[in-house]
Amino acid sequence: MNARIIQTDMVIFETERLLFRRLVRDDLTALHTLYRDPEIRRFFPEGTLSLDDTRAELEWFLGGHPRHPELGLWAAIHKPDGAFIGRCGLLPWTIEGRLEIEIAYLLDRAYWGRGLGAEAARGLVRYGFEHLGLQRLIALIDADNVASVRTAESAGLQFERDLIHDDAPCRVYAVSVRNVVRSA
Ligand SMILES: CC(C)(COP(=O)(O)OP(=O)(O)OC[C@H]1O[C@@H](n2cnc3c(N)ncnc32)[C@H](O)[C@@H]1OP(=O)(O)O)[C@@H](O)C(=O)NCCC(=O)NCCS
Repeated sequence: MNARIIQTDMVIFETERLLFRRLVRDDLTALHTLYRDPEIRRFFPEGTLSLDDTRAELEWFLGGHPRHPELGLWAAIHKPDGAFIGRCGLLPWTIEGRLEIEIAYLLDRAYWGRGLGAEAARGLVRYGFEHLGLQRLIALIDADNVASVRTAESAGLQFERDLIHDDAPCRVYAVSVRNVVRSA
């Protein structure tokens, strides 16, 4: 689906070079191509891999997260060429008894290193705080995933603590709306 023919009710938000829209069934092949890229999967090898599992995940997120429809995973469209270049979003987790909202970003390798990850992360933070009225956002990151750490930091998130999440060690990066207002 080209960025230029997207219905306005599909759009979640935009940044300078990216448009985030709801996922649609036609995204299956593009999404699966991302998920099976070994470089993309490097820090979450247990993540969704098969075509059937990608289809199931896509169905699960079609209307937003089933229990939090304002959240979910969305398609990232590169506006200059209309390409589907990633899936990003805001995901709810219960961590140590607390509802946390994670910023999630994953981009096509061909588009890495152009500042688009940082642009996506900053856009997700702004959307979460300004549009959804969230108070705090986190990222759950493998300590060795330097690109993701730098991407989170460029969106204002800071290291908070180590955590075991889904049976794997990770680092919690976090930002609260108060920090953003104070530093603006
Ligand atoms: C994380 C990801 C979205 C970054 O996308 P990107 O478009 O290449 O990122 P940017 O070009 O905006 O760079 C953001 C920051 O990361 C740094 N960076 C990017 N790739 C890097 C790498 N391989 N090693 C070290 N730093 C890197 C950039 O220098 C920049 O830092 P700066 O702000 O200090 O200059 C991309 O690598 C990706 O999709 N990875 C696979 C999925 C993934 O791991 N997602 C995160 C799960 S927690």
